[in-house]
Amino acid sequence: MKIACVGAGPAGLYFAITMKLRDAAHEIDVFERNPPGVTFGWGVVFSDLTVDNITRNDPVSARTITDEFAHWDDIDVHFRGETVTSGGHGFIGIGRKRLLEILQQRARELGARLLFEAECDPADPKWRDYDLVIASDGINSRFRDVQPEAFGVDIDERRNKFVWLGTNKAFDAFTFAFEETEHGWIWAHAYRFAPDCSTFIVECSEETWKDLGFDRMDQSEAIAACEKLFAKYLDGHRLISNAAHLRGSAAWLNFRRIKCERWSSGNVILLGDAAHTAHFSIGSGTKLALEDAIKLADVLNRKGLSLEAALDEYQAERSLEVLKLQNSARNSTEWFETLERYTHFEPLQFAYSLLTRSQRISHENLRVRDREWLETVERWFWKRATDGHSNKTAPPMFAPFKLREMRVENRITVSPMAMYSAVDGVPNDFHFVHYGERAIGGAGLLFTEMTCVSPEGRISPGCTGMWNADQLAAWRRIVDFVHANSKAKICLQLGHSGGKGSTKLGWEGNDVPLESGNWPVLSASDVPWSPINQVPKPMSRADMDEVREQFVAAVRMGREAGFDMIELHAAHGYLLSSFITPVQNRRTDEYGGSLDNRLRYPLEVFAAMRAAWPSDRPMSIRISATDWAGDDGITPEESVLIAEAFAREGADLIDVSAGQTWAGQQPVYGRMFQTPFSDRIRNEGRLATMAVGNIYEPDHANSILAAGRADLVALARPHLVDPFWTLRAAAQLDYRDIAIPPQYLNGVAQLSRNLKRDAEAAAAMRV
Ligand SMILES: Cc1cc2nc3c(=O)[nH]c(=O)nc-3n(C[C@H](O)[C@H](O)[C@H](O)COP(=O)(O)OP(=O)(O)OC[C@H]3O[C@@H](n4cnc5c(N)ncnc54)[C@H](O)[C@@H]3O)c2cc1C
Ligand SMILES: Cc1cc2nc3c(=O)[nH]c(=O)nc-3n(C[C@H](O)[C@H](O)[C@H](O)COP(=O)(O)O)c2cc1C
Repeated sequence: MKIACVGAGPAGLYFAITMKLRDAAHEIDVFERNPPGVTFGWGVVFSDLTVDNITRNDPVSARTITDEFAHWDDIDVHFRGETVTSGGHGFIGIGRKRLLEILQQRARELGARLLFEAECDPADPKWRDYDLVIASDGINSRFRDVQPEAFGVDIDERRNKFVWLGTNKAFDAFTFAFEETEHGWIWAHAYRFAPDCSTFIVECSEETWKDLGFDRMDQSEAIAACEKLFAKYLDGHRLISNAAHLRGSAAWLNFRRIKCERWSSGNVILLGDAAHTAHFSIGSGTKLALEDAIKLADVLNRKGLSLEAALDEYQAERSLEVLKLQNSARNSTEWFETLERYTHFEPLQFAYSLLTRSQRISHENLRVRDREWLETVERWFWKRATDGHSNKTAPPMFAPFKLREMRVENRITVSPMAMYSAVDGVPNDFHFVHYGERAIGGAGLLFTEMTCVSPEGRISPGCTGMWNADQLAAWRRIVDFVHANSKAKICLQLGHSGGKGSTKLGWEGNDVPLESGNWPVLSASDVPWSPINQVPKPMSRADMDEVREQFVAAVRMGREAGFDMIELHAAHGYLLSSFITPVQNRRTDEYGGSLDNRLRYPLEVFAAMRAAWPSDRPMSIRISATDWAGDDGITPEESVLIAEAFAREGADLIDVSAGQTWAGQQPVYGRMFQTPFSDRIRNEGRLATMAVGNIYEPDHANSILAAGRADLVALARPHLVDPFWTLRAAAQLDYRDIAIPPQYLNGVAQLSRNLKRDAEAAAAMRV
């Protein structure tokens, strides 16, 4: 085949090498706009896996590259005058310029033609003479941008400003240096890639960048300003830019996240950054470019595979890998973009949050990397959780937590879950066993299912209630069992179904109206949940008074039943949520329109409940922090304002759920997918939060807690199959200091021994 590679970056050069290795008869021309030896950027980092891949593909170039690698293990985080060092991270890096020299030499050796100072124009007719044109022309690819529809290009220009500089200061560790200025934070990512050369990337928010005057400085002034800001890390060494000699490259940039739906069009194939980018803070762009090149060369040389099938396979396989990395990169990008959210952390927690920002590294990964350091974090966590009384080194999930005078033994909670098994709202033996079992299962706090304040406030005929004496007595029996047989605390979740009421039991059809015996439903507005649901009656002021008093009466009964805590359910599209969310609330009076108006009634109910509940016992509020409706729904900023408004009325904990507020929601699912909302509310609003949603491993819980993304972690569905989730986690993590019912002591000890033996055997096999 006759092939043109546009761009002699890692993608274009490595593709040329790999094609020639597969079949020396390919005729390959590599065009590059810059002269040889002139390039942007400084060092690039690799993982062990990438080294294995390039070694298998071309041992010759891999040997030269690996011979020149700089290695380092530690990460130093400089923050507020302290340096936090954690080890075991195992990085390898090389200068970008040197990497390109090695690849150029190898490409030439194998017979590829390299043409420098050759600016390529997509409109040039000469491209028709090639069987394939590989657009390896980087992030600002002209060949991609000339036909954006054909490739389905999606570009997201990110908020922060960065500049990629170098220095002769040799950093021993991968260094993050954060500096606070009168105009906000600015920081550097620095690492050594050669004995006397390091990469030094400076980043800050656009506002800080402007306020520091960088928008008015030329390159040498900007460099001098950075040298001054980071003088204490540079030991008198200069910062250097290589952007001045470059064509098509600027000094300060905003990172552009590129995604393409299709990676080929006609005879043009996108490779490397032209097809996709991953934020520099996870250092994987070069790896992706090299691995793309290997895969594309593989499929193009596979006998019997048509060009169309080859390209399909190339994209199908590579796009999965790219998606995973782009997801991690997005988390990492956002962490740096919202940095100021975390600057109230102490240095140790700040460093932990930084290290776990992409969610690729978890609590247990950090233990493997540097046990001693992780144990320092755990000790710190326990000390804070106990006001300095404990010196324990143990997983964060087992640390106690205090809300008003209520102390929970650990940070795991059983999230509210409707059981649809009551008759006339009265909990029965099923509920007794269900809650009793989960209490002795080790969780620190148990939430009841949404317990309704009136018969009409039920979701289904099977919902539990708190409006009469029979219900109160049945709940008291459950609460007494929990208190007598476990250390768990129990919280009564109170709610009103609103427009989602009068529907079937959960397993008979979610949100499907009853076949018969329907009751009229209330809501903020006359917006039906779906075309098959009833049109609700918009609440009148008299309705509001009546329902508020029902909530207050239920709170008083909850107090009599002995509950430790009350939660008001204002999420998931039920009555109070229908006021808060603009996708349901169409009112034109003082209860609709602005956020203040939409919050007015829910806050009134909460305040009345709070007044009826003992001041030494806590209350929480469950909210949907997003409607998953883009700009039409609750915005991320509003979620913080909502939480703050309830906190002002006496909410001690924000139970941060999401969605289920309208039938057309477009949620983005994944592991711990709602935790970012809790993170934001906790760290911007400085409020205690509980995270929930697809959290299922002890490792998830520990990572969330230690990184300060929530104070409590709620698990719903995992507790449906395993009431003993917390005790099992204690056995798994070899944590002994948990209240185990004496009847079950042997079982937990045995599980702990078995799990330990299995882990040791697995480790021995790996060796
Ligand atoms: C600040 C920063 C730090 C980074 N750190 C790392 C890191 O540590 N590790 C890592 O793996 N990756 C890192 N990256 C990403 C990495 O640089 C890219 O992912 C990688 O270079 C992609 O390789 P590529 O060959 O696709 O594109 P590029 O390396 O951008 O190469 C494209 C080439 O095409 C040439 N070109 C463009 N248009 C034309 C044209 N019309 N005619 C002729 N030539 C053209 C360009 O001059 C360039 O040489 C970083 C990126 C940035 C911005
Ligand atoms: C069967 C079931 C019933 C639920 N009922 C309630 C409820 O009564 N009140 C509530 O606030 N959330 C309810 N939820 C939502 C859960 O509390 C939780 O937010 C959600 O399931 C996500 O957590 P998970 O991924 O750990 O399951 C219910 C969830 C399930 C699976």
